[in-house]
Amino acid sequence: MADQPYIELSELRDVQMKMTRFFMAYRFVLEEMVTKIDILQEEFEVAHDYSPIEHTKSRLKSPESIIKKVRRKNLPVKTAVIREEIRDIAGIRITCSFRSDIYEIRNMLLSQQDIELVDEKDYIEKPKPNGYQSLHMIVRVPVFMSDHVEYPYVEVQIRTIAMDFWASLEHKIYYKYEEEAPKELIAELTSAAEAVDALDKKMERIHQELHKKDRSVQPAEEEPFDLPEETLERLLSMARRKPSDE
Ligand code: GTP
Ligand code: MG
Repeated sequence: MADQPYIELSELRDVQMKMTRFFMAYRFVLEEMVTKIDILQEEFEVAHDYSPIEHTKSRLKSPESIIKKVRRKNLPVKTAVIREEIRDIAGIRITCSFRSDIYEIRNMLLSQQDIELVDEKDYIEKPKPNGYQSLHMIVRVPVFMSDHVEYPYVEVQIRTIAMDFWASLEHKIYYKYEEEAPKELIAELTSAAEAVDALDKKMERIHQELHKKDRSVQPAEEEPFDLPEETLERLLSMARRKPSDE
């Protein structure tokens, strides 16, 4: 096998090390974002007694997909260029029940000091021509390494369950027919997108109605440790009592 190209083991190790280093900040930033979202969800559940997030999925773009996108965009295969131009290497998709949850989550995330909004596309306000709906954001979050800070980009997609259902079906059709889906199927998909929009709007109205009722029966907000003075005094005197007092 004399003419077969071969790679030195040391060269292979070097490539592997560079790849690991390249993806590290993206892995960490996804962990940071997932933790942030988990905290928001848990705290929101305690404060409002319902969960605005159905589920969260995160993914790292594969090296193959990165290279494909670099070629499609006619970019040089240089890490600095890839880091700057391919902004969906780290991706998070948040699925909610209701439309208003989408904006609630968006605002909660963007009010955090370390999350910087770089770009936003509201395909709910303005759906794509095929009917695709979702809120897209490109954000940057610092990742503190041992001797430097990195600010990787993260693509955050927020959508309802119905929007997600539609998008995954559309994605399958798009891949199966490679942009040449039969006209009838496209028409069906467009009408399904209209149904999704109508359903989301109806569900939102019901949700608001329910929420209004909930709010009207809820007692005024209390700090958890704002106990009535008598109760507090009784608790304190119990705590002060020595076991021999029993
Ligand atoms: P990309 O170069 O593909 O990243 O597109 P872009 O830079 O124009 O960004 P855009 O925000 O439009 O789309 C980014 C991502 O949103 C895609 O990678 C998909 O995950 C999703 N997306 C956008 N449009 C559609 C669509 O029509 N159908 C489905 N199923 N998903 C879509
Ligand atoms: Mg993409």
